[in-house]
Amino acid sequence: RNVRVVGAPTDYGANRRGVDMGPSAIRYAGLAEELARAGREVVDDGDVRAPRAEERDPEAEPPASGRAKFLRETREVATRLADRVAGALDAGELPLVLGGDHSVAIGSVTGSARDAEIGAVWFDAHGDFNTPETSPSGNVHGMPLAAVLGVGEFADVEWANAGGLRAENVAIVGLRSVDPSERPAIADSDVTTFTMSDVDERGIASVADDALDVAAAGTDGVHVSLDLDWLDPREAPGVGTPVRGGVTYREAHAALETVAERDRLRSLDLVEVNPILDERNETASLATELAASALGKQIL
Ligand code: ARG
Ligand code: MN
Ligand code: MN
Ligand code: MN
Repeated sequence: RNVRVVGAPTDYGANRRGVDMGPSAIRYAGLAEELARAGREVVDDGDVRAPRAEERDPEAEPPASGRAKFLRETREVATRLADRVAGALDAGELPLVLGGDHSVAIGSVTGSARDAEIGAVWFDAHGDFNTPETSPSGNVHGMPLAAVLGVGEFADVEWANAGGLRAENVAIVGLRSVDPSERPAIADSDVTTFTMSDVDERGIASVADDALDVAAAGTDGVHVSLDLDWLDPREAPGVGTPVRGGVTYREAHAALETVAERDRLRSLDLVEVNPILDERNETASLATELAASALGKQIL
């Protein structure tokens, strides 16, 4: 399938300026050339419009936003993105979403799950399972998995729920930072977690294979959401919420090569690249390489 690139230049979910420039940084790092090396035709659909800070109406918060910051802006970006992702899938293409902070995954997952039963693999240091009530920060990038699965107060937030995604088909890989208030929701859900301890003990190849089993079981395809803070900050310094002890460059490639081998990829996110915090755009560059691995680039 041809790849359709869609940028979502927003930082509303991270409350941190800079991650909105992620789509530019990833394109500048040579995304199109790298995907061509994976043998893919690439169409760049440009960016979805994100509301400018000056246009915000502070009075107009939607109901059930609780302590979630900028939920109205997040909804605007997510609903536009969901339409683009669903449109690309309708056209037989593979949507590649460039964040932006991880709140954009609400749009890509709801779009990908609009007319299909999907699974999801979440490569991330974090659980992204907070709700407006449990979140210590109020930042929606710590909530997208809870949002799409309709956990807690998100049960009533229809635009954020992904109808075609069940928790049984979600796997989080590389987990190493979970808020105490977030932990019970993960434990009570049917998502499968593979922590960094699992990666240490079992190796990334086996963990990635199991994660894809979870996401592929009985579904029409798999959404892969790659938060660059999944990697160790020494390899991926350009992220807003770095956590020590992440996967290495080689482990990351091995996992995404497993994604390619399994051949169930339906849609892909590259999120949380913040060029202001980066060193010589290397995190953006890494994002392009990992996307190429997921899309079938081979050494020989
Ligand atoms: N758990 C923390 C929070 O809720 C950090 C979340 C980081 N999420 C991310 N997508 N980088 O604020
Ligand atoms: Mn993260
Ligand atoms: Mn297997
Ligand atoms: Mn995340």
